[in-house]
Amino acid sequence: MVSLEPWGSGDLPLLERLMGDPRMTEHLGGPESPDKLRARQGRYERLEGGDCMFKIIEVASGSGVGSVGFWTKEWRDEQVYEIGWMVVPEFQGRGIAVAATAQAIGLAKRDDRHRFMHAFPNIDNAPSNAICGKLGFELIDACEFEFPKGHFMTCNDWRLDLRA
Ligand SMILES: CC(C)(COP(=O)(O)OP(=O)(O)OC[C@H]1O[C@@H](n2cnc3c(N)ncnc32)[C@H](O)[C@@H]1OP(=O)(O)O)[C@@H](O)C(=O)NCCC(=O)NCCS
Repeated sequence: MVSLEPWGSGDLPLLERLMGDPRMTEHLGGPESPDKLRARQGRYERLEGGDCMFKIIEVASGSGVGSVGFWTKEWRDEQVYEIGWMVVPEFQGRGIAVAATAQAIGLAKRDDRHRFMHAFPNIDNAPSNAICGKLGFELIDACEFEFPKGHFMTCNDWRLDLRA
């Protein structure tokens, strides 16, 4: 139903539909400015050290419908993966985020860089918290994050043991 492709140089329009859309960024501090989106696109094109960002392709239509990625983060004095996902509104509610995230987890397991993967959905982000539960993450606790700068939100800390 879905496949993952590395984020490409032509994918700024898709990024605009994700991080540039107020509906998509309700739990992520609001839409990013055109400058911020271009900078993010540049970062996605030049990821290194095992950090990955993928475009989610809906196989039936061949179109890019979202993103899923994971990157190294220091968390409570430990190197872990953080994972994040987004699906454009027109394609939500069809299991695409679950399927794409399951594939990304498989890749992180294979590269075997870190034992734990964390996801930090806003406590009010019902679909994302449901995705964590479905994919076998364990709920650790809630924590306060500043993202973007000056914007505070309460997120759940979900953890998956990639070596279990
Ligand atoms: C979160 C997001 C990626 C979900 O994408 P999606 O493709 O619609 O998700 P899926 O269809 O794979 O599954 C979502 C699960 O959440 C459940 N869900 C959806 N809305 C829900 C709600 N309001 N309350 C409870 N569960 C809900 C669905 O039922 C589904 O579980 P199910 O398969 O058991 O029915 C999408 O809403 C999105 O991009 N949101 C904005 C960006 C964002 O917040 N990203 C997450 C940052 S951590």
